[in-house]
Amino acid sequence: MRTLVIDHPLVTHKLTALRDAASDTATFRSLTDELVTLLAYEATREIRVQPVSVTTPVGTASGVKLAQPVPLIVPVLRAGIGMLDGMTRLLPMAHVGFVGLRRDEESLVASTYADRLPADLTGRDTFVLDPMLATGGTLATVISMLVNRGAASVTAVCLLAAPEGLRHVEAAFAADEVRVVTASVDERLNDKGYIVPGLGDAGDRLFGRI
Ligand code: URA
Repeated sequence: MRTLVIDHPLVTHKLTALRDAASDTATFRSLTDELVTLLAYEATREIRVQPVSVTTPVGTASGVKLAQPVPLIVPVLRAGIGMLDGMTRLLPMAHVGFVGLRRDEESLVASTYADRLPADLTGRDTFVLDPMLATGGTLATVISMLVNRGAASVTAVCLLAAPEGLRHVEAAFAADEVRVVTASVDERLNDKGYIVPGLGDAGDRLFGRI
């Protein structure tokens, strides 16, 4: 597994505004959308392509197009939905699968309540959208589902990551073609499993408290 922390002034600028407890839902949504598109640019750096030539008005140029099968984007319900538009903006041809996991507030252990993924992912690049890599339990479960179905690569796009979560995923997928792309690795988790300093509950800030 590899971790890529995107060190770019625009990313840090948007992340700083996103962290601000004073940012309202509308601002939080649009900042998330913009930030994901910036992260997606780096997350797709190794996407599979195939060579093509194209006829220009004055000649022939060599180029590439995305390889088949098309990539699969997997937003993790519910907060990952807030990242979907930002990702499909760069990959409009991608297919989208959905996974829902519920985290027990006491044990922090995740269980699956929705699994809408293709049965066979052989040869496919996959992109998991989960804003907060906290304990890593949820992300490790989703990555396992994709690896077990034959995905060629799994790239998790996370707004923020905690060192504890990264260590968890690293230990589980050390030898796999797995990457985590994030805007920041924060200090730690608190005793409620929140990332510190973090940005609070991403799902609540995107969609409101249930
Ligand atoms: N999930 C969140 O939404 N926020 C955190 O800080 C950790 C997990």
